[in-house]
Amino acid sequence: MASREIRSPPWRRKSGKAILSYGARQIALTALRLWRKEKRFADSIISGLSAKAALTPSDRAFALELFYGVLRNLTLLDFWVSCLRASRVESDLRDILRLGLYQLLLLKTAQHAAVHETVELAPKRQRTIINAMLRAATRQRSDLLARAWAQPLFVRTSHPQFLVERWLQHFGLEHAEKLCEWNNLPAPVYARVNLLRIDRTEFLRTYPESRPLPDNSNFMEVNSLPSGALERGHCYIQDPSTAIACQLLDPKPGERILDACAAPGGKTGYVAQLMENAGTIVACDRDSERLQILKENMARLSVGNVRILRHDWTHGHVPSEIASVALFDRILIDAPCSNTGVMRRRVDLRWRLRRIDFVRMQQRQIEIVRRLIPLLKLNGALVYSTCSLEPEENEEVVRCILAETPVLRLEAQRHSQPFRDGFDGAYAAKLIRTA
Ligand SMILES: C[S@@+](CC[C@H](N)C(=O)[O-])C[C@H]1O[C@@H](n2cnc3c(N)ncnc32)[C@H](O)[C@@H]1O
Repeated sequence: MASREIRSPPWRRKSGKAILSYGARQIALTALRLWRKEKRFADSIISGLSAKAALTPSDRAFALELFYGVLRNLTLLDFWVSCLRASRVESDLRDILRLGLYQLLLLKTAQHAAVHETVELAPKRQRTIINAMLRAATRQRSDLLARAWAQPLFVRTSHPQFLVERWLQHFGLEHAEKLCEWNNLPAPVYARVNLLRIDRTEFLRTYPESRPLPDNSNFMEVNSLPSGALERGHCYIQDPSTAIACQLLDPKPGERILDACAAPGGKTGYVAQLMENAGTIVACDRDSERLQILKENMARLSVGNVRILRHDWTHGHVPSEIASVALFDRILIDAPCSNTGVMRRRVDLRWRLRRIDFVRMQQRQIEIVRRLIPLLKLNGALVYSTCSLEPEENEEVVRCILAETPVLRLEAQRHSQPFRDGFDGAYAAKLIRTA
């Protein structure tokens, strides 16, 4: 059904600006329905659909704004739906109402276009009710907004209640509030300058629109994806919080490093730069598609000291290609995690998380660390890192490992907290093998 709609889009039969934005609304609606029914990642749904529909750049931007805007504000939009209609609203109708209310109450789209074009998306039998509800929302706009701001934090910032309750407990009201609001802001684009290809002065001369970060001049804030710089391997898109783990790892030229969960290679590239491309990095991951991306990234960044291997640390023996390089001077375990530190970049993540996920991830994280400890040499350093804000996946993993492994000593621990540091959330702990 969805792909038939995309292949013969209704707006192609007409012409003019308003018709193009109808196309964007149709794409956003189709994407919302696919996201709800198929449980796929939001990014892959919307990029697939907008590529097929061949939207103009401005229509594509509008479709993305609508799709991500609705996903970011689901609870709030549903609260408004419930204010406007007491009886049950079935899912397909609800998606259209969410789109309409997002435009009217949050995006400030021109009222006539928002109502008219959104009503047009619906089958004939639903148009009267949608029209009536959107017109009522237009009349009651200030009242609906005031009622929303009086709602609890999880409703007004549209987060799962269990998550907000955890954050209130862990971080207190002020920080939990800041975190929820931060998750709803568009994420800036940061690029790490790849010193293997270009120095900072030359980078700034070539890409004068980039702004170096005051406390980390290896990273630049850029207005949009610097595609030329990326193609030439002059930079890599990554949040400055990702630097913490690499800096704690502190790899030296000539050393043997194991990057155990490496793909797509953001940290591998930085580690290679810190090693000045000398020595050996063994980069592993269990996901072959992601490893292929790592391989391409390393080629573009001119990383010349990496061996790439597929391996799942929770299955089977250590492959001979790794065993033959062990013991390692340093091991980086950038573990799979719940990703709660990067929610502003992964808009739909909050709706996929379950309470049980933090403990489930913890078990997997501990299992991976256990398998890697024997590969670390005496006095070697193991850095465990995540982009999670949850203690179960961070301090608790480290505590458990330290308790069962007396030969390890905790040397340092660092957090990046969005509400304190203004970057993505991240955690890293450095453990030293003492015997
Ligand atoms: C946080 S991501 C790594 C990001 C990467 N370090 C970077 O900076 O680009 C975690 C990675 O762990 C991999 N992974 C998850 N479970 C694994 C396992 N059991 N063995 C090996 N890799 C695993 C995932 O495929 C994913 O690529």
